[in-house]
Amino acid sequence: MDQKETIILAIESSCDDTSAAILKNNAILSNLIAGQEVHSEYGGVVPELASRAHLQNIVPVVDAAIKNSGVKKSDIDAVAFTKGPGLLGSLVVGTSFAKSFAMAMKIPLIDVNHMYGHVLAHFIDDGEKEKPKFPFLCLTVSGGHTQIVLVKSPLNMEVIGSTIDDAAGEAFDKIAKLLGFPYPGGPLVDKHAKSGDPKSFQFAKPRVGGYNYSFSGLKTSVLYFLQKQEKDNPDFISENLDDLCASAQRSIIDVLFKKLILASKELSIDEIAIAGGVSANSELRSRLADEGQKRCWKTHIPRFEYCTDNAAMIAITGKFMHEAGMHSDQSVSAQARIPFLPLR
Ligand code: KG4
Ligand code: ZN
Repeated sequence: MDQKETIILAIESSCDDTSAAILKNNAILSNLIAGQEVHSEYGGVVPELASRAHLQNIVPVVDAAIKNSGVKKSDIDAVAFTKGPGLLGSLVVGTSFAKSFAMAMKIPLIDVNHMYGHVLAHFIDDGEKEKPKFPFLCLTVSGGHTQIVLVKSPLNMEVIGSTIDDAAGEAFDKIAKLLGFPYPGGPLVDKHAKSGDPKSFQFAKPRVGGYNYSFSGLKTSVLYFLQKQEKDNPDFISENLDDLCASAQRSIIDVLFKKLILASKELSIDEIAIAGGVSANSELRSRLADEGQKRCWKTHIPRFEYCTDNAAMIAITGKFMHEAGMHSDQSVSAQARIPFLPLR
């Protein structure tokens, strides 16, 4: 084998998906995700059920990821895992597995911050796709976070704005729930919005300082509006479903872009990226392309499968940390909340 090749096994188990990936240099050889249907009837992730499902999934998912990649277990140079942030019970499963694997194979262990992973997904080798140049701004929008990140280098990032209440994905999911969709409702809102008119309904816009966000007012505004309309017409939601989805989605996206545009202007940065589960949203992706053209931004949109939680993004982050010699020992433990600080 070529001496310079680095092969990393990565494990991601921060929420309700068990994922394992194999990275060779900067290319992904396999990236498998086992989802958890069990939560849909509860309208949100049930932590206890999530950790039990991770326990069932982790061995077969890792095994299949290694087999599909074509590499031998003994070729793996290091194992990276999500240390946090996320649900503690879920994180513990991935962390324990990674620690055992590293110990058994006598290879280094790398603990990865999930939020770094979302941003660094842009650096997975992906054909002709150009990688962001430093410094760039990354709007990271997921079910648990909404952040504008100033990315100075792969291991030096600073959050310059974040939500003071709900995350953008949470807003999608909560509004989806009001409309009667199962969890996670974000992708369903996206789907229905395609046939709706985004100008049909107006909802409250937040007023928060700096580059920060707020989404709880929007959700409440949708709730009160629906309650009022349903008094007069109990079928209001089903008769206006597509327009409601399109209008709510447009409100969330307008809010996201207002602060992103402000940050880009004030910091004079025109390399702009999006990341996280909500960056799978079709309107968000097309809006970034449109705003990019209008404002002469160089825009970066991750491949669809690297937007929602996946181990490939943990693998590429692990690779950067491995090269920098940032390994952890067997005393490392999962951490539900981790500050987003520069790593070096
Ligand atoms: O990054 P992610 O997979 O998990 C977290 O780290 O939270 O993000 C999940 C979030 C969920 O709120 C989900 O509804 C949202 O991403 N999401 C979407 C779409 N696909 C996933 N929201 C809107 N439109 C989508 N197409
Ligand atoms: Zn995530």
